[in-house]
Amino acid sequence: CGITAYTGKGEALPFLIQGLEKLEYRGYDSAGITLVDEKELVTIKAKGPLAVLKEKLECGTFDQHTGIGHTRWATHGIPSNLNSHPHTNAAETISIVHNGIIENYQSIKEGLDMQGYAFASQTDSEVIVHLLDYYYQGDMKAALRKVMGYLEGSYALCVVTVDDPETIYVAKKESPMILGMDGSAAFCASDIPALIAYTKDMITLEDNQMAVLKPDSIEIFDAQGQIVEPKRIHIPYDLEAAQKNGYDTFMQKEMHEQPYVIRETLRGRIEDSIVMPELDGIDLRDYDHVYLIACGTAYHASLYAQYLGREWMDMPITCVPASEFRYGNYPVNAKTLAIFVSQSGETADTLAALKMCLRKGATTLAISNVLDSSLARLADITMYTCAGPEIAVASTKAYTTQLVLLAAMMVKLAQNAGAQVRDVETFIHDLKEIPNVVEAMLEQENVMERYARLLQDQRDAYFIGRQLDYVSVLEGALKLKEISYVHADAYYAGELKHGPIALIDEGTVVIALATQKEVAPKTISNIEETIARGAKVILIKAPGIHSDKIERQIEIPAIHPYLAGIPATILLQLFAFYTAKEKGCNVDQPRNLAKSVTVE
Ligand code: G6P
Repeated sequence: CGITAYTGKGEALPFLIQGLEKLEYRGYDSAGITLVDEKELVTIKAKGPLAVLKEKLECGTFDQHTGIGHTRWATHGIPSNLNSHPHTNAAETISIVHNGIIENYQSIKEGLDMQGYAFASQTDSEVIVHLLDYYYQGDMKAALRKVMGYLEGSYALCVVTVDDPETIYVAKKESPMILGMDGSAAFCASDIPALIAYTKDMITLEDNQMAVLKPDSIEIFDAQGQIVEPKRIHIPYDLEAAQKNGYDTFMQKEMHEQPYVIRETLRGRIEDSIVMPELDGIDLRDYDHVYLIACGTAYHASLYAQYLGREWMDMPITCVPASEFRYGNYPVNAKTLAIFVSQSGETADTLAALKMCLRKGATTLAISNVLDSSLARLADITMYTCAGPEIAVASTKAYTTQLVLLAAMMVKLAQNAGAQVRDVETFIHDLKEIPNVVEAMLEQENVMERYARLLQDQRDAYFIGRQLDYVSVLEGALKLKEISYVHADAYYAGELKHGPIALIDEGTVVIALATQKEVAPKTISNIEETIARGAKVILIKAPGIHSDKIERQIEIPAIHPYLAGIPATILLQLFAFYTAKEKGCNVDQPRNLAKSVTVE
């Protein structure tokens, strides 16, 4: 979600809207604003992208000088007018926008229920406004301080009240909030791009701090209510760079967003067990054929799900590239379940395969990153990854969010089918840890940058791995060829000796994965065979796997082996990225490729 707020001499609405436009990447299934003057709060919300709200606003004139805005991406709880922000109290004298999640909202809600508060939405956020209403006795700062004491979880919060029409109250814990002034107004937002057209000198609010914004001042208070010095930052770059969050390329920015978007994708979907009500009625034993169908990187994510399915369930799940599925003679009928994976939800082959399955009476399930995409609209069941817009053509965060969503989904499907998932507690525990593991991998950026120099004068690279590692090397090789134009092939390590080893020569670069304990010694032998023929090897391995013959090794953290491909993938993304940079390629827009392939 994204937040904007403004109080000043100018009109609030244009600021709020331009800010929300810049924040739309944080979610866009509904949007809303509250404008304030001394008479009333005017709240307008609309389901759908920001454009729908803008259209609604064209019907009126809004010249208020204070307001708050919000753009939302529902991960659970349907996108609807009622669930959109801002939320107001019953008397419509207080309005809030919230980004984050209130973990103890149920217990707060029960308390408020007893006090007679009625809830209009299914959101956790709504408890905040009623709690404020409950504690507010003319001093909103005091009420907000009190409410902050009750809230568990994360929040970036803006509050306005009709009693104090020129003031915005802001609070923050674990969700970002940036503040600024331009001489005639004070404002804040979830991210820098929303403010950069107005000022380059900003303030970052820290956890448990509160801010009071008036047209000519910003005051920051610590958890004890004492005034503190603001933490000031100067943004030396322009809007385009701000949209890249200071990174040179979207791909690098998007790689670094992975811990956050993975957390968002899993949010609410894993507790002690997997929470996916969409799948409650799906029992794979009811189907004769189960397919996973996708293209490109999404196809690799599907291969991963296929592997988990095979490990956990005693039933065949077939993974097929959409372009092959359409023209192959695959049995499809009313006893078919077809799962489609697509970041954009618009890929022509994937869509055509879906339509064919619908025509033949199959049950269809779509996994998409884009709300209301064609795929999402057509499928019987849709689940979303929460990667946010991916701008770089080469997919990074969309892929890893697909992996975590599919991992959780396969546990759920296996359990629905009555299968015993081995080590399920450890798997779920480690799945929750993935954002931290990914973070740790991103810290290894400089190591991969160094290793990438190996390819400086090379035209070819070979990726090898066994079992699940094979899926990761397929994706690693695809990433490398997409953006650096180095010819890259991925092989099952055991297949090397049946042909590809003929290509290994003095100086050939081999990237090997050994994260799967049972087969790792065999992969290590294969690696050593390439070293004997002059290969330069980079080994990505799990703890406890050794070979002293390999000079360049990098270890992923200890994690359930079925999740090891995620940290390994991060390293492979970095490797491809730095190879491309080193070669001076346009990493965001590689030649001949399109982000979304809507032709056959
Ligand atoms: C294009 C993109 C790939 C992507 C594939 C499938 O080829 O360049 O990065 O993996 O399409 O896209 P989808 O949107 O269906 O996941």
